[in-house]
Amino acid sequence: MDKFIIEGGRRLFGSVRAQSAKNSVLPLLAACILTEERVTVRETPPITDVACMAQILRELGAEVVFRDGNAVVDSANAGDHRISSSLTKELRSSVFMLGSLLSRFHRAVIAYPGGCDIGLRPIDLHLNALKRLGVSICERDGYIYCECEKLTGAEIVLDFPSVGATENILLAAVEAEGRTVLEGAAKEPEIVDLQNFLNAMGANVAGAGSDVIVIEGVKKLHGAEYLPVKDRIEAGTFLIACALCGGEIEVSGVKSESLGLLLHKLRENGCKIHTKNDKIRIASYGRLKCNRRIETMPFPGFPTDLQAQMTALNSVCEGGALIVENLFETRFKYVPELQKMGADIEVKGRNAFVRGVKGLHGASVTAGDLRGGAALVLAALGAEGTSEVYDLSHIDRGYSDMQGKLKNLGAEIKRVRV
Ligand code: EPZ
Repeated sequence: MDKFIIEGGRRLFGSVRAQSAKNSVLPLLAACILTEERVTVRETPPITDVACMAQILRELGAEVVFRDGNAVVDSANAGDHRISSSLTKELRSSVFMLGSLLSRFHRAVIAYPGGCDIGLRPIDLHLNALKRLGVSICERDGYIYCECEKLTGAEIVLDFPSVGATENILLAAVEAEGRTVLEGAAKEPEIVDLQNFLNAMGANVAGAGSDVIVIEGVKKLHGAEYLPVKDRIEAGTFLIACALCGGEIEVSGVKSESLGLLLHKLRENGCKIHTKNDKIRIASYGRLKCNRRIETMPFPGFPTDLQAQMTALNSVCEGGALIVENLFETRFKYVPELQKMGADIEVKGRNAFVRGVKGLHGASVTAGDLRGGAALVLAALGAEGTSEVYDLSHIDRGYSDMQGKLKNLGAEIKRVRV
């Protein structure tokens, strides 16, 4: 197990380019199984979630090779339709493999992914939608057995704009017979990316990014080469790091409109932000003011994946802030670790009441999940003195070379084996 040793109190200066989006690359890799031809997903980030998804594809019989930073997938020989429990436990989001396995094999068996550190994470919306497309589903002994004679287009309405369910529906409907109209779809930029990728493979999908997506089933999909969108959550994490530490940085690769309300909230804190094309410059000098209220919402609302990072920022701003986590039941588990650094935060259910303190002090803290771990790193960068952040396996799931990128921005951070 590794840890970060961080000397806090340094301002950040310089520029950083965002990696390809983890939450786009994962469904894109799942979609590779839809064709027997070669697919290349370019500039895949070297993060463990991507390595895990590659392993899932290999267990299904596909060949996955990482070459010059790209993932090259050949699934001509894929024949298995079962995903083991160890892999679904490791990568919850593998549940959207159901859609692509059903498209390819008309069968799929997957261990029930179950909850994780941030909440229960049910998959009822996924399963109800697949049933609408003609899939019969039975859940037994912790496994989900799915099969269908064929997939038939249908009208589907999602009660909640679930990202994963929307992706599963696209993957299951692209080669279904007839038209599928999905209402109440998630509108995240990663959904638009999946639509563009599927269309590059010969699918006929339209409307992603809006509430209604229409999928005209096609007979066959072909290979493609595709460059995914950049990671708006990684980009947002670096912007918040600069807000917290002070200084001036430029983050490139991500359009401002993909960051939802983040830029508005950072301006509310008192940061100066300029955007041009896919470049976002942020400057932060002097003590910032707390955001009175941050409520996480589906896109284009404030992203839940930046909630922990903004709580860390608010813990050293002037005043008080109410942070409301509307998407996941237990996404404040990182708070006790921030309290070890002197943060004054009270959690009640889905609400965190933050009272800004003048500054945090270094401490030994442990990451418990991906974005909570990122928040601890940001807090340590802004804290007075030395901090240690343990259990970096969570951070490695979604951030490639976080310490290298922060070091290039002037942070005093090193990664050591424990
Ligand atoms: C995706 O998870 C992301 N993961 C998450 O990012 C992100 O936090 C989340 O979307 C919301 O934006 C990937 O894309 C790999 P949801 P997903 O289905 O698809 C409820 C990160 O840190 N729900 O939109 O699992 C669910 O309980 C990760 O990168 C149902 O009730 O999110 C939750 O309350 C964390 N029934 C809400 O919807 C269902 O069938 C949002 O879930 C499905 C979801």
